[in-house]
Amino acid sequence: MKIGVIGAGRIGGNCARQAVKAGHEVMLSFARAQSKLEEIASELGDRASVGTAADAVAFGEVVILSVPWGAVPEALAQAGDLSGKVVIDTTNQFGSGPMPVAGQTAASFNAGRMPGARYVKSFNTLTSRFQEQAATRDDGDRVVQWICGDDRDAKAIVAGLIEGMGYLPIDLGGTDTCAVMEAPRRHGAVYGEEYRAEDAQAVVDAVRYGAPIPPTPHYD
Ligand SMILES: NC(=O)c1ccc[n+]([C@@H]2O[C@H](COP(=O)([O-])OP(=O)(O)OC[C@H]3O[C@@H](n4cnc5c(N)ncnc54)[C@H](OP(=O)(O)O)[C@@H]3O)[C@@H](O)[C@H]2O)c1
Repeated sequence: MKIGVIGAGRIGGNCARQAVKAGHEVMLSFARAQSKLEEIASELGDRASVGTAADAVAFGEVVILSVPWGAVPEALAQAGDLSGKVVIDTTNQFGSGPMPVAGQTAASFNAGRMPGARYVKSFNTLTSRFQEQAATRDDGDRVVQWICGDDRDAKAIVAGLIEGMGYLPIDLGGTDTCAVMEAPRRHGAVYGEEYRAEDAQAVVDAVRYGAPIPPTPHYD
C-alpha cells in the first residue's frame, strides 16, 4: 500500500518505519527542516520518498496526519483536498490552536476539519517510544492500537495496516463515542495505558453500552 505521511516526527516517523518494514511504500512530508525528512527517508531505503504535504496526499491511499495539535491547521492547509482519502489522525489536543467544544471529542472535531476524508483516529494513546518498542512483540503479547471512526471500510483498511505493523487493532466505535481513547491520561480511560487482547473486548463492550470501562490492567 502507498502511505503519505504528514509529519514524520516521533509518531509519524515510527509509523513510517513500521509500515516500510511491513512492505508498504511511504512518502514523508511537512517539516520545518526538510533535511530531517531526507534523513529518515534515506534510513528507510527505496520504499521511502519525500514530498510536499499535497504530494503525500496524492501519493497515499492512506494518509497519516501526525503533527502537533497547533500545527494541524497549517498541515491541513498544505495537504489540500482530502476527499476519498483514508486519513489516520494520531494527534492529541495539547497546546495551542482551535479546540473541540465542551463534550465534543477531538476525533469528531478533527473529522470536521477534513471534509470528504475517510477519517480514522489511531496511534494516539501510547508514547512513541513504547510504540516503537512494542512493534516487535509476538502475537499473544501484542499491544492494542485503538481505532475509532465513522467509516467502517476505512477502519478495516487501517486495521489491516496496524496488524501488519505489529500491533493489535481494536475498534472502539465512532468519533462521537471515543472519548476514552483521548487525552488526558485519567482514571476511566484507555489513553496512556497498555492493553492487550485479553482486556480489550471488555472495554469495547463498556463503550458500546455507555458503561464505565473496567479498571486498567497491569502486565508483567
Ligand atoms: N510523542 C508521543 O509520544 C505521542 C504519542 C501519541 C500521540 N502523539 C501525538 O501525535 C502528534 C505528533 O506527535 P510527535 O510527538 O510525533 O511530534 P513531533 O515528534 O514533534 O513531530 C511533529 C512533526 O511535525 C513536523 N512539523 C512541521 N511543521 C511543524 C510546525 N509548524 N510545528 C511543529 N512541528 C512541525 C515536525 O518536523 P520538524 O521538527 O522537522 O519541523 C515533526 O516531524 C501530536 O499531535 C501528538 O500529540 C504523540
